[in-house]
Amino acid sequence: MTGGPTTLSGDEVTAVLDRQTSVMEQLAAGDRLSDVLEGIVVALEELIPGSRCSVLLLDDAGVLRHGAAPTLPAGYSSAIDGLEPGPLAGSCGTAVFLGEQVVVTDVLSDPRWAAFRDLAVEHDIGACWSSPIRSESEIVGTFAVYDRRPHEPDRRERELVRRFTHLASIAVAHDGAARERDARHVAELARQTAERANHAKSQFVTALSHELRTPLQSITGFTESLRTLDLSPDRRRQALDGISDASAHILSIVDDVLDLARVEAGAMPIALEPVDAAVVARATVALTQPLAEARNVGVECVGGAVDVVADRRRLQQVLLNLVSNALRFSNPDTTVTIRTEASSDRRPGSASIHVIDQGPGIPDELLDRLFVPFDRLGADAGREGGAGLGLVLAKRLTEAMGGALDLDSTVGVGTHATITLQQPPAASDDAR
Ligand SMILES: Nc1ncnc2c1ncn2[C@@H]1O[C@H](COP(=O)(O)OP(=O)(O)OP(=O)(O)O)[C@@H](O)[C@H]1O
Ligand SMILES: [Mg+2]
Repeated sequence: MTGGPTTLSGDEVTAVLDRQTSVMEQLAAGDRLSDVLEGIVVALEELIPGSRCSVLLLDDAGVLRHGAAPTLPAGYSSAIDGLEPGPLAGSCGTAVFLGEQVVVTDVLSDPRWAAFRDLAVEHDIGACWSSPIRSESEIVGTFAVYDRRPHEPDRRERELVRRFTHLASIAVAHDGAARERDARHVAELARQTAERANHAKSQFVTALSHELRTPLQSITGFTESLRTLDLSPDRRRQALDGISDASAHILSIVDDVLDLARVEAGAMPIALEPVDAAVVARATVALTQPLAEARNVGVECVGGAVDVVADRRRLQQVLLNLVSNALRFSNPDTTVTIRTEASSDRRPGSASIHVIDQGPGIPDELLDRLFVPFDRLGADAGREGGAGLGLVLAKRLTEAMGGALDLDSTVGVGTHATITLQQPPAASDDAR
């Protein structure tokens, strides 16, 4: 069949359709573009016996890059990788430059191949014709057919190349669309993350203002009464104590907020050194003794000397947070235990410090909120009650020291906080 609407035989039309179907299947399965293009190239080579075909793709810089060329010599493919389009740039570079098919029937005599003649001889190339691959009318690459001898493509070959070039253009367009979709997806995720961060920040600011308002209002109240009323010495002292307490509360919130901001920005100076956790634990017991007595709760240290890598001052701050929580929430006549442990089940080469209380425990559904700033899980701020910053700060500080802070709690049994920190190299060798 030479005339009529197509120059392909019925079998060939079937072969082209088969190939088309399998390309669609590959695209639907999300195969890599290079694999899809290779499949197209191989199919055309089968239909034009003796031919070698290639696809080159234009990159963002406007040069042609290797797309697929399974039977062309690797040396040839790498030599033309990076080809710049131009009026005398072989078949492919010229096809892109002109925006039309370029048929070079004899590479040795055609001026467009002058610069590539040695390459052609070396790799046994006699003829090459190349068609631009378009996606949405823009040229995105080329489809080339090589012959070992000078050759003029016939109508059948031209028709086959036309169809396969079209197939390649669908594959490239599909790949571009998929990339665009991925990029949009990544951008959308970034936007959502930024939005969440923004939301968290506004929530933080709202909660902070709310926290500061109460002590500020009491300062205003006490100041007013000192100014306007003729107070007895006792009431006067009470008002001054009230102002002093409220100021101390504000100061501690501001200190914690600044610490939190610094540690979250990675700007907290952390001086890591080997620190004996038992020494810090004993210092914590001494510092929290007044609170323990006021609550009628015992506080004890168990476990021996354990070296950990930490910033001494910050580790003390973390332990103070955990122990004062344990004491504040414990039932009277119970004991808070600080246990140092030379090895950690959770992480090899680590040591751990445990703070265990026999308080009311925290319901599972509230555990998520433990590390949310200003969230007291409904606990009353009370007189020595905190702002709800202690745990989030303790967690961030522990992480800044290369460790981890975890909390387990069972309602009716108590709460168990675990600080895990690295051991200094020598100490972890001993432990082994
Ligand atoms: N050992 C514990 N037992 C029971 N509940 C606890 C315990 N530790 C913390 N919580 C609960 O978690 C909340 C948050 O603790 P966190 O230490 O962050 O804040 P806070 O102690 O209220 O205030 P701050 O530590 O800022 O002074 C507490 O208000 C309390 O409801
Ligand atoms: Mg606390």
